Amino acid sequence: MKALIIGVPGVGKTTLLRKAVEELKEYKIVNFGTKMLETGKKEGIVENRDEIRNLSTKQEKELQKKTAEKLEGKKNILIDTHLAVETPKGLLPGAPKWALEKVKPDKIILIEANPESVRKRREKDKTRQRKDFRIDPELHQDLNRSYATAASTLTGALIKIINNEEGKINKATQKLVETLKK
Ligand code: AP5
Repeated sequence: MKALIIGVPGVGKTTLLRKAVEELKEYKIVNFGTKMLETGKKEGIVENRDEIRNLSTKQEKELQKKTAEKLEGKKNILIDTHLAVETPKGLLPGAPKWALEKVKPDKIILIEANPESVRKRREKDKTRQRKDFRIDPELHQDLNRSYATAASTLTGALIKIINNEEGKINKATQKLVETLKK
């Protein structure tokens, strides 16, 4: 089983995934941004993950393509990624048709939260540079649903939405674990 785990930056998807795999040992987390970063570093075009979205569109798509190709044929992976990547040039689809054809997800799981909670989580998390996000989390979550619908239609993947309520990470983790077990 392969799932795309989607959520606006700072919604908590990485934190949730790490907790979920403590219970689901058969799954491996693949952070798509980390894979893109590894390749980008080797090529000398980026130094940190927050620089990826400031690359040229051509470079960014090239990194996406190389990363999607590495995931072809892999089983039992949870892919921590984005469907609507905010870049200075406009929204970049995180999973365009050619990437979906390589990855072939069975499920698309959208992690959502109250937009105000997302803003606060971004402010509190000093490990990241998320100040360049202009799109309101509410609109971004709506856009994610639209991209997810399109990706689901193209691949036949099921969609599940999980609310990561403020201070209730364990409740959201349990919902994610149940979804992945089904
Ligand atoms: P990516 O690697 O996905 O970023 P990330 O490190 O996963 O982090 P996010 O910014 O998405 O945050 P998160 O939702 O995981 O939140 P977290 O768990 O940290 O992406 C990096 C870059 O790679 C992207 O910007 C893009 O450029 C590129 N990229 C990735 N995929 C791509 C693609 N397909 N195509 C093109 N480019 C791509 O949590 C945040 C904080 O909230 C933490 O402090 C946590 O403790 C707290 N928190 C979590 N849950 C709760 C809760 N319930 N209550 C209170 N606090 C909570």
